[in-house]
Amino acid sequence: MKNIIAIASAKGGVGKSTICCHLAKAFTSQHKKVILIETNAGLRGLDIFLGVKDVVYDLGDVLKQNCSLKEAILNVKYNENLFLLAAPFSFDIMLSGKAMFKLCNSLKELFDIIIIDVRTDPVFSFEIKNIVDIFLIVVTLDAVCVRDTALFSNMLSSKGNCKPTLRLIINKLKKNIKKTSPFKNLDDIIDETNLQLIGVLPFSKDMQYKTQHGKNLNAKSVLYKIFTAISKRIEGKNLDIII
Ligand SMILES: Nc1ncnc2c1ncn2[C@@H]1O[C@H](COP(=O)(O)OP(=O)(O)O)[C@@H](O)[C@H]1O
Ligand SMILES: [Mg+2]
Repeated sequence: MKNIIAIASAKGGVGKSTICCHLAKAFTSQHKKVILIETNAGLRGLDIFLGVKDVVYDLGDVLKQNCSLKEAILNVKYNENLFLLAAPFSFDIMLSGKAMFKLCNSLKELFDIIIIDVRTDPVFSFEIKNIVDIFLIVVTLDAVCVRDTALFSNMLSSKGNCKPTLRLIINKLKKNIKKTSPFKNLDDIIDETNLQLIGVLPFSKDMQYKTQHGKNLNAKSVLYKIFTAISKRIEGKNLDIII
């Protein structure tokens, strides 16, 4: 079982926070106690995605010792297994790799799964690689994103002794891939990034709407099933990839 999951990417706007939110919910529906950590400074977003209205304390308060870690853990309404540590509201408190290490060590005692919404920052991603069990690297189908993902995953796996497990999530897949992307098929992207695929998510206006309104995906929807399958693959189950 992989307990500390990092959702990372080479480029911004690829869907990391969206994936964090729905993957966390998939784990909670299997009765796992999950905490999400947002690592941006000043660019909070998961509170909206999870429908958390009142952020009293955030990670900035923990780092400045304005409150205890437990006081900053936010409950998510209607989901007793889901919790959030919100990003600092101000831009001047950046969570370091070292602080992340301390944080995860404390949280490991309290939660089954820690999901880190990794800010788009290769240096920070590299700094946390020793504490993370699995990196889910999110890519979309544009040429620059795919090339940058290859460089990013190379950097994560090459330097140092620790080689974390890296897996690829292809996001925002549109029906006719050749019309919107320079790639002919998904195999081209997998070859170029040299990463093992763990999930493919279609472009979905419904998910966009639901996420921004803090709502859950419909349990009968394809996306719900895809997130459930990704959560099970992370647990080591061998399931076919739904595309
Ligand atoms: N599969 C998807 N289909 C459609 N829109 C998506 C999908 N995944 C993410 N988005 C949208 O892309 C934008 C960026 O997503 P976000 O999760 O904030 O990315 P990141 O955290 O990587 O910056 C948001 O508007 C979000 O709703
Ligand atoms: Mg984000």
